[in-house]
Amino acid sequence: MTQIGWYGLGSMGLAMASNLQRHLASKRALNLIYSNRTMARGDPLGALGGTPESSYTNLVAQCGIIFTMVSNDSVLQHLISSVTGSGLSLRGKIFVDCSTVHPQTVGLTAVKLKEKEASFLAAPVFGGNPIAVDGKLVFAIGGPKQASEVVKPLIQNVMGRKIIDCGEDATRASLLKIAGNIVTVNMMEAVGEAQVFAERTGLGTGPMEELIGEAFGPVAGGYSKRLTTGVYAPPLSSRPGFGVSLAIKDAKHALSMSKENNVELPGLQVALENLEAARDYAGECLDSSSMYGVLRQKAGLQFWNEKSRQGNSS
Ligand SMILES: NC(=O)c1ccc[n+]([C@@H]2O[C@H](COP(=O)([O-])OP(=O)(O)OC[C@H]3O[C@@H](n4cnc5c(N)ncnc54)[C@H](OP(=O)(O)O)[C@@H]3O)[C@@H](O)[C@H]2O)c1
Repeated sequence: MTQIGWYGLGSMGLAMASNLQRHLASKRALNLIYSNRTMARGDPLGALGGTPESSYTNLVAQCGIIFTMVSNDSVLQHLISSVTGSGLSLRGKIFVDCSTVHPQTVGLTAVKLKEKEASFLAAPVFGGNPIAVDGKLVFAIGGPKQASEVVKPLIQNVMGRKIIDCGEDATRASLLKIAGNIVTVNMMEAVGEAQVFAERTGLGTGPMEELIGEAFGPVAGGYSKRLTTGVYAPPLSSRPGFGVSLAIKDAKHALSMSKENNVELPGLQVALENLEAARDYAGECLDSSSMYGVLRQKAGLQFWNEKSRQGNSS
C-alpha cells in the first residue's frame, strides 16, 4: 500500500483532503499524513483519522504520493526546493499539485523533480469550496501517464466528478486552468455589473438572481449569491471562499500569457483593475467576486451591501 501525503489545508485543500481521507478509511488503506503551515487547520482531518506531520520534508520522506494545494507559485516552488535540496531520496515518488500556478512554474517543477527520479503531475481544479466539500470538482491532469494512472483513482468519485486528461505534458493542465479562469473572472465581473444595474434601475437583485440562475446556470447563479448574501466581503474574522488575491494572481497569469501570444483579453483586464481597486479599498479579506463592491461605488452606492461586512473595523 502506498502512503499518501497532503500539504495545504486552506479553503479548498481541507475539503479535498477530507474526502480523500474518508475514501482511504473506507478502503482500509493507510491514513493520510497531512501538513499545513497552520497545523491547527488540520484538526478536522485528524478527527477523520489523518495523521499530522509538521514538517513537509518529513511528510515527503514517509510518502509515495504527495499532494499539494497551496496559494500560489512561490509557495509551491519553496516546498519543492525544500525537498530537492534536502538530500532526501525522491526516487519513484509522485508529486501532485492541485494549486493554480503558471505553466512555466509547472514546467520548471517537473524538470527539477525528474532530475531526482520523481514524477510531477499538475492537477488543478475547477469549482469552489462547496463543490470541493461535495467531492464534485472538475480536475485537469497532466504529466507522465504511468503516474497519472496511479493517481486518477484517488481523484475520480473521491474528490472530483470529472478528470480532463491533458496528456503527458503537465504544463497543458495548468494552461487549461489558466484559460478556464478567463471565463470565471469575466463571469464574476458580468454578474456583478448586472446586479448593480438591477439595483440602480429599480429592477431589484431578487428577480435578477432568479434569472441568472435559471437562464445562465448554477455557476453564474452561485456567483450572484456571493453578492446578494454578502459573501463578497465576509467578516474580517473569516477566510474568504476564494480570496481576492488568488483571483488577481489567476488573472495576471492569463494576461501575461495573452501578451506573449498576442491575444487581447480586454474584459479580463477590466475585471483585474476592479479587483485590485477592491483590495486597495477593503483589504485582503475579500472574495474573488469583490469587484462588485467597486462596481457599486462607481454607480454611487456604498462598497458594502446590507448583507456584507460594513467596513474594515467590523
Ligand atoms: N478557492 C477556490 O474557489 C479555488 C478554486 C479553484 C482553484 N483554487 C486555487 O487553489 C489553490 C488554493 O486555494 P484556496 O482557496 O484553498 O486558498 P487558501 O484558502 O488561501 O489556502 C492557501 C493554502 O496555502 C497555504 N499557504 C499560503 N501561504 C503559504 C506560505 N507562505 N507557506 C506555506 N503555506 C502557505 C495556506 O496555509 P495556512 O492555512 O497556514 O494559511 C493554505 O494551506 C490556489 O492556487 C487557488 O488559486 C481555488
